[in-house]
Amino acid sequence: MLEVQGIVKQFGGLTAVNDFSLSLDRGDIVGLIGPNGAGKTTAFNVIAGFYRPNAGRVHFGGRDITGLRPDQICKLGLARTFQVVRPFGALSVLENVMIGAYARTNDKATAKAKAEEALEALGMTDLAERAARDLPIAGRKRLEIARALATEPQLLLLDETMAGLRSAETDEVIEMVRKLSQRGIAILLVEHVMKVVMSLAQRIVVLHHGEKIAEGQPSEIVRDRQVIDAYLGEVESDAAR
Ligand SMILES: Nc1ncnc2c1ncn2[C@@H]1O[C@H](COP(=O)(O)OP(=O)(O)OP(=O)(O)O)[C@@H](O)[C@H]1O
Ligand SMILES: [Mg+2]
Repeated sequence: MLEVQGIVKQFGGLTAVNDFSLSLDRGDIVGLIGPNGAGKTTAFNVIAGFYRPNAGRVHFGGRDITGLRPDQICKLGLARTFQVVRPFGALSVLENVMIGAYARTNDKATAKAKAEEALEALGMTDLAERAARDLPIAGRKRLEIARALATEPQLLLLDETMAGLRSAETDEVIEMVRKLSQRGIAILLVEHVMKVVMSLAQRIVVLHHGEKIAEGQPSEIVRDRQVIDAYLGEVESDAAR
């Protein structure tokens, strides 16, 4: 479904993503991990069309989508969340999610129905009429997933949607993501919370200085010496703090 082939993204002299390849099939949940600045968000931005890569191609659903605009890619069924969530604060939760739904329809009633469905999937029905600005961080993160879901994606890129959540909230979102995957939506997940990655992902890809240093099942990745040195050691000491 998604084939990322050797993408490179440079910012001036800095190579943020270097010759990165990845493939994902329908219903897959793949974790993308790595230290701060490894290039995870940049890879998302290339895949979703926010950045044009300096080299490499992205294929989605059998089509070369390299260089298409984010809205065109979204219409093809690829949605992403943003690491830094900025809902339209004055709009209601429902209205924010309707913005996602308008990717596929111009009809207000249809958009509303799709948005309500997405809110239901995220357990947010009760919050529909609230102003988005009144949501606590956990609610905003969920809203971000609901907005992406309302675009009816086949592939969802989630960028640290569990960061800053309490443990019980994290467990709830894990369960919701699992349900989305059971509906056939493929998920590429960037997450520093290892509990989340380990419990959701069937496969983990590790980025370090823009390059893929490992790929495998969670049980293999946690034992990979290079991964421990580059990243997991740091996560463990974070957890100890
Ligand atoms: N728009 C930009 N302009 C210049 N440099 C950038 C830009 N976006 C990212 N970078 C740089 O590219 C590198 C990769 O950043 P990126 O945000 O992709 O990392 P990340 O893996 O998502 O990190 P984090 O875990 O902190 O979110 C970093 O060195 C970052 O400073
Ligand atoms: Mg990031």
